[in-house]
Amino acid sequence: MTKPDVSIENIFAGQFEENSELTLKGWVYNVRMSGKKLGFLLLRDGSSTMQCVVFSGSTEAESFENFAKLTQESSLTVSGTIVKSPKAPGGWEMQVKSINILQIAENYPITPKEHGPDFLLNLRHLWIRSSKQHATLRIRSEIISAVREFFDQRGFVGFDAPIFTPSACEGTTNLFEVNYFDEAKAYLTQSGQLYGEAGAMAFGKVYVFGPTFRAEKSKTRRHLTEFWMVEPEVAFADINSNMELAEDMICHIVERVLRTRRRELEVLERDISKLESIKKPFPRLHYKEAAAILEKESKDNFKTGMDFGGGDETILASKFDKPIFVHGFPTAIKAFYMKEDPADPTYTLSCDLLAPDGYGEIIGGGQREESIDVLKKKIAEHGLDQSVFEWYLDLRRYGSVPHAGFGMGIERCTAWICGTQHVRETIPFPRMLYRLNP
Ligand code: 4AD
Ligand code: MG
Repeated sequence: MTKPDVSIENIFAGQFEENSELTLKGWVYNVRMSGKKLGFLLLRDGSSTMQCVVFSGSTEAESFENFAKLTQESSLTVSGTIVKSPKAPGGWEMQVKSINILQIAENYPITPKEHGPDFLLNLRHLWIRSSKQHATLRIRSEIISAVREFFDQRGFVGFDAPIFTPSACEGTTNLFEVNYFDEAKAYLTQSGQLYGEAGAMAFGKVYVFGPTFRAEKSKTRRHLTEFWMVEPEVAFADINSNMELAEDMICHIVERVLRTRRRELEVLERDISKLESIKKPFPRLHYKEAAAILEKESKDNFKTGMDFGGGDETILASKFDKPIFVHGFPTAIKAFYMKEDPADPTYTLSCDLLAPDGYGEIIGGGQREESIDVLKKKIAEHGLDQSVFEWYLDLRRYGSVPHAGFGMGIERCTAWICGTQHVRETIPFPRMLYRLNP
């Protein structure tokens, strides 16, 4: 087996042989000369960036001349020895012996000066190389890995739901319609939940993880038209065990990112102490308690019975320094599958998790209606066509049990953990009302 190349990240973690010569492959992040004989190259290799020092006395003559030709984002390989350098980023630098240029980059459009968001989003294919974007997407990847690790370790089965679906899951107002051959219309899935419920009845505990679509006409910093959602679904679970599962998952994610992606959090200038204080239990407020606060403090004319706006969520979350659960939303504003509270059927056994610092709802879920008669009534009340839900009603015909689950949007969670203002920076290529490119 050939030895894998040593990456800059390996070097920063001390996973390399000191004093041996190494070759790094990558791109120029920045170059500068200091006088005539000394030059500094910030090399990025995809894993991280490292300072490489060229010196006319120790770098090969031809390579020293090559150094002068380098432009931002030129591709190259650099060989030399790695030495400790407390002042260099990461604490190590390379003393360069030779440079081999692969391509001299044309004038790179993204420079260290300030660019507007539209300019950068049009260049998203290049923008992802910039340090903050790079750190954000690295953390996103870590979060996804932590989510899978969490559910896999607990014996959940990964259960992929279809993307073309015959019916709505989360209301009919934001469906993307697709022509599905001659006869039929299909919709891009808004949520894999209904299929997850079938999975839970077959496997006990499953998680659906995939892209979901909402034709959101809203231009907020929390909305994408295409986003990724993880949706666990558990047979024999109730609303309380559902909130405990969500709480454990969030703690697991935060703990993992703090352990493995500290450098990226520092690049993003995230207040790490705030993440360190995320420990269970999270506060739980009934909708009625939350509504009483908002009746007094809402700036958006909130009245009891209404759903929360983004501003309302910010007010509620600002009262706590941890994520909070709001549970028991009114039946009138929730999806058809939500189980009504037996103590008062005008409320549901639903729960949302609101992140601190104005990031708003990152999780939505609850206990599902297990009675076929109530479900049929709700499907009719919601103006849905029962015939496309017959397969779903079968889950109540053949061994119906209490069950619960939730969905977490990966981008909302990433935005909160990274401290990123807008979810558009938490996905490689965001899709929004006015953005389909690149
Ligand atoms: O609250 P939502 O709509 O819940 C569901 O779809 C349930 N079927 C989930 C379940 O119980 N299995 O969406 C769940 C989460 C939200 O809390 C949010 O994090 C994210 O999905 N989300 C969005 N993220 C980005 N852009 C959008 N337009 C989003 N809509 C929802
Ligand atoms: Mg929701």
